[in-house]
Amino acid sequence: MTNDIRQIGIIMGSDSDLPTMQGAIAICEEFDVSCEVAIVSAHRTPQRMVDYAQTAHQRGLKVIIAGAGGAAHLPGMVASLTPLPVIGVPVSTRHLQGVDSLYSIVQMPGGIPVATVAIGNAKNAGLLAIQILASQQPELLERVQQYRQTLTQSVMDKQAALEKLGYQQYLSQMS
Ligand code: RP5
Repeated sequence: MTNDIRQIGIIMGSDSDLPTMQGAIAICEEFDVSCEVAIVSAHRTPQRMVDYAQTAHQRGLKVIIAGAGGAAHLPGMVASLTPLPVIGVPVSTRHLQGVDSLYSIVQMPGGIPVATVAIGNAKNAGLLAIQILASQQPELLERVQQYRQTLTQSVMDKQAALEKLGYQQYLSQMS
């Protein structure tokens, strides 16, 4: 059962970021950690962004995941307004494929860090947020260990299938 106290804030600059950010939401659901999901635009709702970030720790949040595309100022600005750790998700863009978002998010000045994941990889942002929480929560830490074991097992299963089928049949079943 999901713990009702929301510990992770998942915000995004636009609803167009939601298809990307659902990867982080899905991880929170998988680990039964409640999250707060909101559209908070650095450019279109600047005051809402300030209010959100400055009150986040008072609402009980422990980590914020912020996704944005293009002139992706949301993660950095939120990081400058909150003492909580912020994980930035560069959202892919039509013209520059998210390289613009990545560069905007990753180039933070000294003193205001934003942990940045790969373009579009909200799943990893979710996992990193869970791991940050898990460092202080033994039950969650155990679940992270179990998750890692499932990753290992899935590779070992693939290896067993590769050996059994040979690479050509394995490839044909992939497609
Ligand atoms: C950014 O502008 C958002 O994070 C989004 O990725 C991008 C485009 O927003 P929309 O024009 O789709 O609302 O602020």
